[in-house]
Amino acid sequence: MESAATTTGQARPARAGRGKPFEIRKLSELMAAEITGIDLAQPFDDVTRDAIMDALVAHHVICFRDQALTKEQQYDFTARFGELEGHVVRTWEGGKSPLVHTVSNLDKDGRPTDSPYTQGNFFWHTDKSYHEVPSLATLLHAIEIPPSGGSTQFANMYAGYEALPQHMKDRIANLHAEHSWEVSRTNTFSRTATEEEKRERPPVTHPIVRTHPVTGRKLLYIGHHTSHIVELPYGEGRALLYQLLDYATQPHRVYTHQWRKGDLVMWDNRCLVHRGMRDFDMTKHRRLLHRTVLKGSVPY
Ligand code: OGA
Ligand code: MN
Repeated sequence: MESAATTTGQARPARAGRGKPFEIRKLSELMAAEITGIDLAQPFDDVTRDAIMDALVAHHVICFRDQALTKEQQYDFTARFGELEGHVVRTWEGGKSPLVHTVSNLDKDGRPTDSPYTQGNFFWHTDKSYHEVPSLATLLHAIEIPPSGGSTQFANMYAGYEALPQHMKDRIANLHAEHSWEVSRTNTFSRTATEEEKRERPPVTHPIVRTHPVTGRKLLYIGHHTSHIVELPYGEGRALLYQLLDYATQPHRVYTHQWRKGDLVMWDNRCLVHRGMRDFDMTKHRRLLHRTVLKGSVPY
């Protein structure tokens, strides 16, 4: 990409026309927009940064096409928006995951497998809802993708909440769910949490109807990291949580992202649930993305 020198001598990306920092085009009526005309490896000003955040809040999922960021550049890009969040999940070797880590279907020896290290990504969830301070956004950069499939689905939780009948909105208005890394592991048929992981991430509670801190709109804040509803008997609460999740993730509230190599997708964890799809031959094709997570704020 062309770049122009500023008075401070820094390179900045060429503008995508008439004062706009980039081009943006909706990918579906429900959510998601594609952004072109910006190279995220180049420095950009705060006006551009704010325009990116506005686009995220407006479209919930934004996809920057044709990027080729190193891990360091992805770190720097993410850090323009706030603090990066670490991960409770350990590496194959049992160590802490780095702040820029990989999501893949590769085994310990780098071979494609249909039983990757964690199954959790294949179930509807919002990232790190088992944290007291959950995530604002997740960024995935597609490094290797299968020839077809390997997509990621997103469900709009504003839409899921707004479509509920009034009696259900009234019923859930003041309820709280317990979210837990340990229960998330069993909910998603993943390996059990270790004692160390449980100590690091004890269960937390969040309202199941959350207000988005920027838009002020209400939405359902649930997913497979939930255990039960604090105010209800265990079984009744779990049944209600899954009933709400099924309702919110009906196909007409879902956008499916078909990855292209070079995509950098950033999504708003405050108003979406998402899941990876097993819609490709995972034993044959490689799928590898670089991931960073931006810390958010306490839900209310
Ligand atoms: C994640 C995630 C799904 C996917 O990285 O948080 O859920 O499609 N990924 O890889
Ligand atoms: Mn996720």
